[in-house]
Amino acid sequence: MKIAVISDIHGNRLALEAVLDDIARQGVDGTFNLGDLVAGPMEPNWVLDILMDIDIPTVRGNHERALIDNPPEKLGPVDRFAQIQMEARHRGWINALPPTLSIVDDIFLCHGTPTSDEEPWLDGWWDGRTTTIPDHATVAAKAEGFDYPVLLCGHTHIPRAVRLRDGRLIVNPGAVGLQLNHGSPDARYATVELRGGKYYAAFHTVPYDHFAAARQAEANGFPQWRDALIAGWVGAKGLF
Ligand SMILES: [Fe+2]
Repeated sequence: MKIAVISDIHGNRLALEAVLDDIARQGVDGTFNLGDLVAGPMEPNWVLDILMDIDIPTVRGNHERALIDNPPEKLGPVDRFAQIQMEARHRGWINALPPTLSIVDDIFLCHGTPTSDEEPWLDGWWDGRTTTIPDHATVAAKAEGFDYPVLLCGHTHIPRAVRLRDGRLIVNPGAVGLQLNHGSPDARYATVELRGGKYYAAFHTVPYDHFAAARQAEANGFPQWRDALIAGWVGAKGLF
């Protein structure tokens, strides 16, 4: 059994299409999506149309929650851009997304941690955009009570896997659509494979036309996103 895991597309259709193409070559049994689908000033509607079409198991991210819960005047400029673009069919689909999901007692999906879509799990990236690595006890505490062999999380945009002492595997695939601190523009995703009773994680980098995505962001009035998409690096101020 082999699955692909994607997260944090952030309205980047060109990156999503390149990743889905690469996944198609992997021969996986399924693909799972960990949220933050549309908050990005490129092509949020296209992203939603693709996701509604492929209809893979998906949890909502903190940005989906913000889009559902808030009127435009209460949103930041990027969320507002996405919300204004969305059509009724997109809203209905996003409203129905669960915050977490489990697949046949083996795999658990969440955006941040099992109990929060805001909290980071495997790293603390917002510390001035410097990555901090939490100790094992801190990571394990957030997994307590979630007895699945594989726990999948996103949100921090940083690919990482942690094997807990009891054997459970936590995997963050990194981000499809917005690289925060790699200094490399390539899209990221992960695969997880069950072989001989053990789960193995692998991370993938996918080149795509990030200059075209950057031009879309600029044309839509977000020059700071243009720079981040080209550099694969966001900088200390953040983008939202
Ligand atoms: Fe997020």
